[in-house]
Parts: sequence; structure tokens; C-alpha cells
Amino acid sequence: MAVPFVEDWDLVQTLGEGAYGEVRLLVNRQTEEAVAVKVIDTSQAKECAENVKKEICVHKILNHENIVRFFGHRKEGPTVYLFLEYCTGGELFDRIEPDLGMAENDAHKFFQQLIAAVEYLHNLGITHRDIKPENILLDNNDNLKLTDFGLATMFRFKGRERPMYRLCGTLPYVAPELLNQTEYNAQPADIWACGIVLTAMLAGELPWDQPSEICQEYSDWLQRKTYLAPWKKIQPMPLCLLSKLLLANPDARITIADIQKDRWFAQGVKQPSGSLNCGSIKHLRADGAVISRANSDDKMEFSSSQPDLAVGGWEAMLLISQMNGQVSFSQPAKPEHMLLGSQLFGTPGTSQTPLQRLVRRMTRFFTTVSAEASLASLKDVCDALAFGYKLTCTKQVTVNTLDKRNNKLIFKVHLLEMDQRVLLDFRLSKGDGLEFKRLFLNIRQKLCDIVSTQKISLPVI
Ligand code: ADE
Repeated sequence: MAVPFVEDWDLVQTLGEGAYGEVRLLVNRQTEEAVAVKVIDTSQAKECAENVKKEICVHKILNHENIVRFFGHRKEGPTVYLFLEYCTGGELFDRIEPDLGMAENDAHKFFQQLIAAVEYLHNLGITHRDIKPENILLDNNDNLKLTDFGLATMFRFKGRERPMYRLCGTLPYVAPELLNQTEYNAQPADIWACGIVLTAMLAGELPWDQPSEICQEYSDWLQRKTYLAPWKKIQPMPLCLLSKLLLANPDARITIADIQKDRWFAQGVKQPSGSLNCGSIKHLRADGAVISRANSDDKMEFSSSQPDLAVGGWEAMLLISQMNGQVSFSQPAKPEHMLLGSQLFGTPGTSQTPLQRLVRRMTRFFTTVSAEASLASLKDVCDALAFGYKLTCTKQVTVNTLDKRNNKLIFKVHLLEMDQRVLLDFRLSKGDGLEFKRLFLNIRQKLCDIVSTQKISLPVI
């Protein structure tokens, strides 16, 4: 299954895809060290080669605990490989439950770490320009790591600041001044994007398609209609911070120094009383919704319909086989070392066991029927939803559609057969992460007749 890449390093699996190309997992056969490699094909567009050069220049000088480490690069003809820290926790957007968000405590910690990363960049005179949950990864210990410096640039050099002109980023995350001014300052624009990320974490939805007054949701925000969603789902303290982060006037917008003095940011989140419930942790949100999270202590249970593999992708499945309702590991010889990351280049180790690391939600489920029947059902659902469905190879389907904002949404469904069971693994190729997840939940619901609900009990080892 593993393909040799360079001597002793095997390309194990695709971790993610983007407009640039894809990110793959590389594992060292001898040491079981793991690194992510971003593969960029520069032959497509002329400016691509220039962008990659800049990405390398910027990323290689960065050294911060909340930024993905850059280990080096290699060029082979038009293909450029960037070797990056492998973040086993996957993408932040995968922790956001559509329309619910995540526990306020978790959002608080991730937001603090995101601001630490952005403060570090801004102190160096660098702006990221594409902050969004898809560009935020999590490590073994659930520490946030900002990545993808493809649009990053210098905004300050030798103490002199320059304005930005380029309209770049992702529309729901861009600051209003990018749409209504010819030039803008770099720092307030990044801070705005952090505010949108915080909203997504706390409410599980993006507040608007774009921050222009033709957009009703944005007009409602300007008129402080916080009794509407997503704002009504957010507690008063973080909402107060959001009202300073998402100020339309970039000169009045809160600075990082003042974010650090904000009450919610600085003081943290109080666990609501009665929130601890045996076996799970429950958090009460502003609108009364309860968000629960499996307790990582003691014996864990997970539904095999959502295998909850943490390794940022279904590569973990290559290592796992099920025996008598228990989960065990097969290839390679010391998979637990690999799963634990053998954390390369001095990355701190972890006290988590491999199984604990498996208990995280991903966009996948086991079915109760054969591979052929699974694909046929998936095709029926896609046809009924008028999605484009294409069998790209025997074990992979590419689905394309438009999301509710009319933006392209393309994802792949990998089919994996193991121990007489079929796993359907959904991966975003292009489009908004939250919309993808919403769509995944919709498809899973429509396939509920064939989704396995069998519970597997996992003993802690
Ligand atoms: N997806 C994209 N980049 C990644 C990385 N560095 N680690 C894990 N998954 C990724």
C-alpha cells in the first residue's frame, strides 16, 4: 500500500487537497518518523512558481509553536515538494459541528493559540492573508498550528509599513475594506479573519457570504441585530469580543494588544455548573444547545459508523484491523509509534495512547452492505440531490455540486474494504469546509439504512 518516495520514505496517504495540489503523509521505514509533504505543480500557472518561491521564503523563517514547522523543500521539474510538520489532529474545521460549533472552552483555547501565531507573524512584519479553519491544523496534543503561507507577504520591513492592494483570501473571511477600498492595512484584515474563525468555532456557521451591504446578514450585523443567528448562539463575553474584532472600520478594529486585554480572552471560560456528566463532558451554549464531547478517560466507546480516527485522514485505517469487536493494529511493525507520530524533529511527545488518539470525529462511516451496494446507494443519493457523481477509479468517487452560497464544492469518497466491512471516507477537494461537513451529514442521514450503528468498545491500552 505504501509507495517508496525517496529512499526509506514511503508515501502513505493523501492528507488533504487544495487548489495548489495535495498534501501527503510520508513515513520513514526505519524510524517511523512522519512528515507531511505538500506537492505543488507549478506548470499550471506562471504566477504559481513565484508564489511557491515566496511561500518557501516566508515559511522557512518561521519558528513558533502554533505554526506548522517547515523542514525543507525539493524541486523536481515543475513539481515542488514542501516538507512540513505532520499534524496528527487534522484540520480545525473537522472539530466544528455544523450549526453548533464546539465547546466554548475549546474555542477559547484555539483562539488564544491562533492569536499567538498571528501576533508572532505580525511582529516579524508578515501577514498570512488567508486565515480560515481549513488552514488551521491540530497536533497530537490538540495544539493549534497555522499553515499554508501561499498568500503570505511582508507588510513591514525595517520598521516601514506598506499598504496591501491585492484582493486575496476567501470571501466569507475577508475584511470589508478589501471589498470597498483600493488599499488596506494588513494587520486589521488578519484580525478580522480571526473573528470569523471565532464565530465559526462558537456557532458552527459563517456569518455571511461576504462583508458587503448587499449581503443581508452583514447588514443585520452592522445594525447590531445580535438576537439573530449566529450571534444569538454566542455567550455575552465572547460576543463582546466579536463586536470589537468584526468592526467595519479597520482603524477602530481591536488590535492584538487589546485582544490580549479583553475579559473573555484573558480570563478564560468558566465551566457551567452541572456541566460534567459521567462519561461525557457537556457544554451549555448561549441558546441552550448542549454540546457534548466523549470523555477521554477510562474506557471509551465509539460508534463504528463514525470511526473517529484522529490521524488527519483514513491513513490510520491502513493500520487497523478489527478482531472480535476489539480494535488492534496491523502493519507496520510498530504502528503505535507511527500513530503517535514518533514526533519528529523534537516535537514534544504525548501521554495519549494510540486508541485515545483514534477517538475523534471524521467524515466517514462504515456501511452494513457490500462495496457495490454501498456505491450504488451513494450514487442514488447523489442523483437525488442532483450532485455530479463520477467513479474516478474502482475505489474512489468524485462528487461535485454547489453549496448554498453557490460556490463550487467538490469532494472525494474513498471506499475501503476491511474485514468484510466497507468504509466510506469523505474528503473535501475544493470548497468551504463547513459546507462540506453539512453536506456530509445530509448524505449520511440519507444513507441511514446502510450506515452501520454497531458500537465497538475500546479498552485503554
Ligand atoms: N493537511 C494539510 N497539511 C497537513 C499537515 N501538515 N499535517 C496533517 N495534515 C495536513
